[in-house]
Amino acid sequence: MAQQEKGTPSGLELFFQTMLQEIYWCELHLRDVLENMETRASTEELKAAFRNHRAETNDQVTRLEKIFYQRGMGAQPIFCVGMQGLFDEGWQIIDETEEGSAHRDAAMVIAAQKVEHYEIAAYGSLSTLAKTLGFKDAVQLLEESLAEEKKADSILTELAERDINADASVEPAKNEQLSPQPDTDDITTESDPAVETMKEAVTGMDAGAGSASTGGDAGASAPGSADALLVDDSGEPKAKRKGTTRKRTTKK
Ligand SMILES: [Fe+2]
Repeated sequence: MAQQEKGTPSGLELFFQTMLQEIYWCELHLRDVLENMETRASTEELKAAFRNHRAETNDQVTRLEKIFYQRGMGAQPIFCVGMQGLFDEGWQIIDETEEGSAHRDAAMVIAAQKVEHYEIAAYGSLSTLAKTLGFKDAVQLLEESLAEEKKADSILTELAERDINADASVEPAKNEQLSPQPDTDDITTESDPAVETMKEAVTGMDAGAGSASTGGDAGASAPGSADALLVDDSGEPKAKRKGTTRKRTTKK
């Protein structure tokens, strides 16, 4: 194993710094995102949950800036592709749900919890790395933020289980929500030959369309086969159907 030269940072330390800059980018944007979610929530309790976590997020930004200072780094955010995906998903949910509905509240809780789980993973990993690297002051600050993210997640679970999901479950679906047709163009029904062999060995399944074991009848799938899961009631492979394409938006 190559040894690091004295005075130069290890690859792990540089990785820690990059992760720190990415979560900093997340927190800076989350302040705006949480404010937006608060205005769109339909109950005072959910609004309060988003509002309170926004205040915590401000504290988390300050903690990260302290760590940058401790490490002799400028507070420089780096774009986080993972969190941007979660933000996009949140905006998509808002586009597709009705204002003031419990359905929107339930969907926003789930979107927010995906963000919390991402942050829990990020802060947990950063804390572990900081322990390894001997950054004791950073560990304490990271653990404080980690605890807040976990608490925010459990508050959202509590709200969903208490009222929101039950309220959403009795709201009628809008017409455009009925019989959604997923866009499955990107799904392939061909599996790796090794996986096909394993399926047959374990279950005796016909591996389905396109596999060598079916004799090449690409349109048919035997009942009970893995590929039958991708065939609709008329026997048409879903992968060949055109469906509603869900919009992607990148509002900020
Ligand atoms: Fe956060």
